[in-house]
Amino acid sequence: MVVANDFIPSNYSSSIEKGTFKWSAPSNIALVKYWGKKEHQIPANPSISFTLNNCKTITELSFERKTASSDDFSFDLLFEGQPKEDFKPKIQKFFERVLVYLPFLKEYHFTIDTQNTFPHSSGIASSASGMAALSMNLMSLEKVLLPEMTDEYFYQKASFLARLGSGSACRSIKGNIVEWGAHGEIPGSSDLFGVEFSRSVHPNFQNYQDTILLVDKGEKQVSSTVGHDLMHNHPFAERRFEQAHENLSKIKAILETGNLEEFIKIVESEALTLHAMMMTSMPFFILMKPNTLEIINKIWKFRNETQIPVCFTLDAGANVHVLYPENVRDAVLQFIKDELVGFCQNRQYICDVIGSGAVEF
Ligand code: PMV
Repeated sequence: MVVANDFIPSNYSSSIEKGTFKWSAPSNIALVKYWGKKEHQIPANPSISFTLNNCKTITELSFERKTASSDDFSFDLLFEGQPKEDFKPKIQKFFERVLVYLPFLKEYHFTIDTQNTFPHSSGIASSASGMAALSMNLMSLEKVLLPEMTDEYFYQKASFLARLGSGSACRSIKGNIVEWGAHGEIPGSSDLFGVEFSRSVHPNFQNYQDTILLVDKGEKQVSSTVGHDLMHNHPFAERRFEQAHENLSKIKAILETGNLEEFIKIVESEALTLHAMMMTSMPFFILMKPNTLEIINKIWKFRNETQIPVCFTLDAGANVHVLYPENVRDAVLQFIKDELVGFCQNRQYICDVIGSGAVEF
């Protein structure tokens, strides 16, 4: 079993003065949701997600060895080419957390230049793709310092680091479908990093579509950090964590058999359960908006009438992810245009599809 200490490097065998790396990393959408965590971003239950393809963060990391040694981190942060002071505390905290695993961090001055492919403040969380892209760049640098590193270690550690930045980011590194969290039926699964779903996946899920309906682009009233925290002493927490294990077993089988009816049951139940946890915590809160419910009802009606296997899922916000197989794409897109865009802010939606993870430029 891999333990956290395995990611503390021994002496670096090589060195570098300066350079630049550039990686993109995608967002992901969970089918079985992670909600609730222990110390050090250890998930309270296992989760599994589709990796997205179009919604991604592109981050360039330039580095130059510091001339005078100092005990502080030194970095500039640019968002879409402009200095962005508000993002710095998050990076500072991330660096502090991962320093023991990346001891070179204080030896360089970094310039982190980052941008997203999705509209700014679209309500799409950029923390997963952002932390994943930054972690890939840091691993590229570590690979120069430790050229004998294996690919397995490279990707596992990238996911491990991303997790320390933002839990679900560990599922945005590599693979179409990624599982995170120790689970009895998934060999190699770990609370420390995401693993690629290694079973054969039914062709029904090939190029599975995710159209993200932008219902509310505003700042969330309750952050995921606070939401996760409210699962401590939550009256239904223990049962929910067990249920996630059960749903993961079920969805693992479904991904192999391609049973879309069962897939839809689990995915929609997981979305509603996530929000039910929010509504039953103390203090309670609601992140769905009236239009979120309008859309859900429209999807149910359309599915009943047409038997087209389209379903929804939600993350920690009001936006709706509409999931469907590639072979019903035209019919579902027409339905979205005819009946759902009216519930979106400025009629905005983003068409995405399952992707395969981070890419180096
Ligand atoms: O990674 P975080 O801390 O932003 O939490 C993400 C939680 C959900 O998106 C609601 C569920 C998930 O598994 O991605």
